[in-house]
Amino acid sequence: MTTPVVDFVKKYIESKSTRLHMPGHKGKSLLGFEAYDITEFDGADVLYHAEGILRESMDNATALFGSGRTVYSAEGSSLSIRAMLYLAVLYARSKGERAHILAGRNAHKVFVMSASLLDFDISWLYGEADGGITQCTVSPRALDRSLSEMKNKPTAVYITSPDYLGNVADIEEISKVCKRHGVLLLVDNAHGAYLNFLPENRHPMHLGADICCDSAHKTLPAITGAGYLHISQNAPDIILHNAYKAMSLFASTSPSYLILQSLDILNKYLSENYRERLSEYCLAVKKLKKRLCDCGIASLDGEPLKITITPKKFGYTGVELSEYLSEKGMVCEFYDPDYVVLMLTPENGVDVLDKIYNALSCIPKKAEITEKPPKFASPRVKLSVREAIYGETEKIPVSESLGRVFAGFNVACPPAIPIAVCGEVIDGDVIALLEYYGEDKCEVLKN
Ligand SMILES: Cc1ncc(COP(=O)(O)O)c(C=O)c1O
Repeated sequence: MTTPVVDFVKKYIESKSTRLHMPGHKGKSLLGFEAYDITEFDGADVLYHAEGILRESMDNATALFGSGRTVYSAEGSSLSIRAMLYLAVLYARSKGERAHILAGRNAHKVFVMSASLLDFDISWLYGEADGGITQCTVSPRALDRSLSEMKNKPTAVYITSPDYLGNVADIEEISKVCKRHGVLLLVDNAHGAYLNFLPENRHPMHLGADICCDSAHKTLPAITGAGYLHISQNAPDIILHNAYKAMSLFASTSPSYLILQSLDILNKYLSENYRERLSEYCLAVKKLKKRLCDCGIASLDGEPLKITITPKKFGYTGVELSEYLSEKGMVCEFYDPDYVVLMLTPENGVDVLDKIYNALSCIPKKAEITEKPPKFASPRVKLSVREAIYGETEKIPVSESLGRVFAGFNVACPPAIPIAVCGEVIDGDVIALLEYYGEDKCEVLKN
């Protein structure tokens, strides 16, 4: 596997050329990496008109993921999600239709923000589990039922899998349902880039999705901001042919070459003995989950690189357990009242697994906390996201918001899952959720 971008930058540094181009640091070091930070000048290619080193590097990634076209993002999955939804809108318009997306309600806020940019209609799918706003695994049967009941089929189904807790939807069966109903399948696979390298490939490109995004930086050894947009070789031509255009519509015209080099070297790293290392590490994490379970520390049965602890079972809230781990020198990815999420990769090494076990196995157990999170609300829609986003807004106490039209995007990340969506009428269920997750103010349209 070649590393054309890394090689080009290395040669450029060695040439000691005078940098009469951006960036303004001119390769002089304030932090140590500036020499590697170049821009799109002659020979360095142009990310979304790629014909040289970036094209070669993205071809490598395309082969690695077995897609019809894999395109780099230097702005994470956030950029790829906007592009993915633009492609769905383009596809709908090519058929003379207005775009309509049937989406799992636990969609990341970028999905809703994209609706304000692209003006598509949304219908929501709700999961069956009652685990608060982070849980919304859609089953193929429930999806089939929803699609069968819809007289006008949506353009696409949009699934977030894995979710923030590591729950994985049955993408293979979901894709069959989508094909049967003649709708596209889009997957927010931000948390699942590594699924492509498991002994049994569980990546959405392998399981029948038409388009998906991955954040390489979340689960692979890439730097923050590194991501992909993958288009399946079976996707409609209009989607395959417009991938670069879709990305360039929303991306900065100055992509970070630090991130692009990270993605470039990753192709080589992942094609060497990564699959074996990952497989061994997943087994080690599985053993740790079992050992923790044996001493009363319960966790969800989700994807292999996440340990999602359910601490209320042994007497702690997620907030308390996260504080405890922090005192032991461990910083976890996410916590809320009900869960603590530990994200692991082979780069953590096996010693870390022992450290986690040693810290958790000696935690004094207390009486179970039985309070459950409220279920997802399904409020009435008053305005489209796009209509609501242009309205005049004000911030008011949640306790005074009953009946007002929600107009905010500012959801804390993680998990960045909107409790109410712009344009929805705040009801008692929304208030219960906002209060449960500690929000005391919310943005609403002015009356
Ligand atoms: C499910 C999900 N989708 C999309 C994103 C956005 O990804 P990125 O931060 O790579 O832009 C996130 C970020 O946490 C996420 O959790």
